[in-house]
Amino acid sequence: MTSPQNKAFYLTTPIYYVNDAPHIGHAYTTVAGDVMTRWLRMAGENVWFLTGTDEHGQKVLRTAEANNVAPQVWADRLVQDAWLPVLDVIDAKNDDFIRTTEPRHIERVQKFLTGLKDAGEIYEGAYEGPYCVGCEEFKLPADLITNESGENLCPIHSKPVEQISETNYFFKLSAYTQRLIAHYEANPHAVRPESAYNEVMSFLRSGLLDLSISRSTFDWGIEVPWDPSQVVYVWFDALLNYATAVGLGDDPESVGGQKFAQTWPADVHLVGKDILRFHAIIWPAMLMAANLALPGCVFAHGWLLVGGEKMSKSKLTGISPKSIVDLVGSDAFRYYFLRAITFGNDGAFSWEDLVARYTSELANGLGNLASRVQAMVGKYFDGALPAPSEYAPADLAIQELLAKTAKSADESVRDFDFQSGIIAVKEFIDAVNLYVTEQQPWVIAKGEDVQSQERLATILYTICESLRAISILYCPIMPKSMSTLWQEIGATESGLVQSLNGVGTWGQLKPGVAIVKGESMFPRIEEPASI
Ligand code: MSP
Repeated sequence: MTSPQNKAFYLTTPIYYVNDAPHIGHAYTTVAGDVMTRWLRMAGENVWFLTGTDEHGQKVLRTAEANNVAPQVWADRLVQDAWLPVLDVIDAKNDDFIRTTEPRHIERVQKFLTGLKDAGEIYEGAYEGPYCVGCEEFKLPADLITNESGENLCPIHSKPVEQISETNYFFKLSAYTQRLIAHYEANPHAVRPESAYNEVMSFLRSGLLDLSISRSTFDWGIEVPWDPSQVVYVWFDALLNYATAVGLGDDPESVGGQKFAQTWPADVHLVGKDILRFHAIIWPAMLMAANLALPGCVFAHGWLLVGGEKMSKSKLTGISPKSIVDLVGSDAFRYYFLRAITFGNDGAFSWEDLVARYTSELANGLGNLASRVQAMVGKYFDGALPAPSEYAPADLAIQELLAKTAKSADESVRDFDFQSGIIAVKEFIDAVNLYVTEQQPWVIAKGEDVQSQERLATILYTICESLRAISILYCPIMPKSMSTLWQEIGATESGLVQSLNGVGTWGQLKPGVAIVKGESMFPRIEEPASI
């Protein structure tokens, strides 16, 4: 049996609807999860990172019908042509990818449901009320807005809701209201940020209704095991992915059972704020009903906005990740969204801001620093890293700042404050650039005496050591260019491992290793036509 000591840090993204191809709002969640899990992996931690696709429900069914294909054919097509490829486009390194049409998911959902039924948590009843197919959500009248013609609209999709009236199965969600309140009172960090926590608490305090968990008017879903005339409500099916993907309900001795012991409960579910209540209310209640441990935290991030509204394909405001990656590369894509927007807040995307930050922070800030020192070591020391001599106060100040930067970046990233983590490293890069300007190594290089040569060597070593640390601290965010930089500054040749542990310890590069000037890391870009 697995001991709890080697439980993995388990992080999930939402599973994405396959009714359409991904836009940058979807890629945003995946990038955030990927950065967090890469960070922890680079700190030597055991991590499991899950993403996947949500394939059942009316929304997907209707899209497939509109395209004259069977829903499974449609889902297969979208997964193969769009959702799997986007992971490469944004350079995400997930450990698993779950599809809700896979047998491993379907079988475990049915087993879970049977367990709840046997435990008396499910009953048959009549449902009547509004439903938004865009959200796949049963709405309350108070959730809706009204247009000029008096129609009730979903405030997220700005589309009329549909009136549902059918007999189906209900989960006794209301019975969990007090337990959920008590759970969140005792664990105020179980929903983050604080605004999301407050939203969940006030919703809980207003009381919960039981939840309809099956549908009878269409058949694109997981069959209710004891009643083939019903399919499981798509959200009930979808939420379970986090647990089915790691072996929910399997015999503890089996591979699935061991995986479950090693992974469950999830440490973090990353979600957009529109799907907070599903994750912070329905999901933990389902787990409580099955006597399973609750996730450590649901973190709700904000929306990427276009014209003040949530970017969405249905409103024709979706921008494909590829269109940005084709312009600036996957590293800058990943950097930009976490750098520009406070995680947890909404943020407006603009091409102008993307290009401006790319140019000033990446091309001019980091790219220039690397290419300047690589060129100088080439010119003055034949490309071999010189050994430092006695350190002057300016050099020691860089060493001290690095130690502080490594600590604060680590604290920020672990706290989901990616922006502060990036800013800490960026400020270090700015400080090193200022150091280069102030120390003027190209002037010192003119002095042929031993003292000047020693001083020049110390300055160039200081810059290379700084780049060694930067190529670690930025690696989870910009894996491709930082792995290249790591090679170029001779870190592998120095026998080092690109790990966050000890990143701030000075003097790790071995004098004498080759410093190579490679291709420009962040080449100047042509401005896109849309600017
Ligand atoms: N299938 C459900 C999730 C089930 S999880 C058990 C779903 N899918 S979705 O494809 O519509 O959305 C997936 C995620 O993308 C959500 O977290 C949502 O918030 C996020 N985003 C969709 N549009 C977005 C923006 N414009 N901005 C930021 N995130 C956005 O909901």
